[in-house]
Order: sequence, then structure tokens, then C-alpha cells
Amino acid sequence: MQRPDFFQALSIYPNAGQLAKAAAERIVALAQEAIARRGRFCVALAGGSTPRATYERLGKPETALDWARVHVFWSDERCVPPDHADSNYRTAAVALLDRVPIPAENVHRVQGELPPEQAAAAYRAELHAALGADGRFDLVLLGMGDDGHTASLFPGTSAVEVHDASAVAVYVERLDSWRVTLTLPVINAARHVLFLVSGASKAPALARLRGGERLPAGLVQPVDGALAWLVDQAAE
Ligand code: 6PG
Repeated sequence: MQRPDFFQALSIYPNAGQLAKAAAERIVALAQEAIARRGRFCVALAGGSTPRATYERLGKPETALDWARVHVFWSDERCVPPDHADSNYRTAAVALLDRVPIPAENVHRVQGELPPEQAAAAYRAELHAALGADGRFDLVLLGMGDDGHTASLFPGTSAVEVHDASAVAVYVERLDSWRVTLTLPVINAARHVLFLVSGASKAPALARLRGGERLPAGLVQPVDGALAWLVDQAAE
């Protein structure tokens, strides 16, 4: 079956460990290229649990990266304090940021401890100030939920339709929780977007995407950037 173009670059790995290894290698290569070309690497980290193994690999001493030239942001964040178990910042800090010499000022977290709308406004200001003149990420890392959501762009939420703001607060009814998420225009403006999808629970959503169903993850189609899906066999 002809895959819709958002599967233009689908790579399948035997297991989650191989996926994490490949993802870390790609991220390092993209970072080195961005630093060589533009002097720095701006990446939005994915939330959830899938990317943890990739972050742990990036946090190893042998990772050859000039962390002083790396700026990290988040694709989305739960509206909780940074030390909360659900915090996407905390996941990345434990697995990666606390293990590498990245300057504190290069870590642009969503202030999940603030009221949602304030957190979103502060994050929009941070994105505007820190992303540079063209406002483009070098890389946006994304996961996908079993309902086809990505970042915190959940099916049926207004955040999916936002085109005039870089980040918004969104109440996710099915989770009874507030999130702050990048919006599609910012994601689709990225130079590179990398989906990391692992586990059998994701297979139905991938099949729905293949079938052409309009799910948020399928709306990620970089305007002038490269899209890649790294998927393990369990999810495929
Ligand atoms: C989040 C994520 C979300 C996540 C998917 C997959 O904050 O939860 O940004 O979009 O990537 O829900 O989550 P898992 O990797 O935990 O399956």
C-alpha cells in the first residue's frame, strides 16, 4: 500500500534499544551539523517515556557534543512543577541534562509550576527570545500517543487548530490535566522533525495514519524541513 507522504522516511528497528541507539546517533549528527553551520543547535525534546533511553545514551561521556552550543526546549510539558514525576523537564534532566555540561541558560524549560496560560505566555516569550531570528528549531523530537496525538496536540482539542501562536496551554479532558504545547506552525517550521515511536500500543494509531486518517501526528509535515519516523517492530 502506498504510504502517505508523512511516512516519507520511515525506519524500522528490531527493538526499543536499537531505536534509541539510532535516534541518539541521528541527534548527534544533526547537532554537529547545526553547530558547524550556524554556531548552535536548538532542539525541542519530546516528552513521555519513549525518548528516555535516547536521552540516557546522549548523556553518556562519550557523546561528542559541544554542549555550550546546545539549546534545549520542550515540544510540550505537563503543568506540574519541575521536580514532579510527570514533568517532561525532570525526565530529560535525570536522563541527560544533569549528566552533561550544558549551561543553565541553555535550558529553556516550560515553567509548568505557573498557571497554564502564564506558563504558555512565558514559553512563547522564551521561544521568541531564544530561537534566533528565523524562529526555527534545528530539530523537534516527537512521540506519538496511542490515539495519534503528538506533543500535547490531542485529537479534538483546539490546540491542533492554532496557527497564530508558537505555544499554547491546553486542557486535555481525557487526562484531566493541563499541558503547554508547541503548535503545528512551529513544529512544521523545523529543519528536522524526528518521531520516536515504540511499542505495540502504538501500532493501531500508525495503521490509522497509514490509512489516511487525519490524526494530529499526521499533520506534522515540515514546510521546508526533513521528517523522519523511527519506529520499532512492535509498533510497526
Ligand atoms: C507527553 C508527550 C506525548 C508523548 C506521547 C507518547 O508529554 O506525554 O509529549 O506526546 O510523546 O504521549 O508517550 P510515551 O513515549 O510515554 O508512549
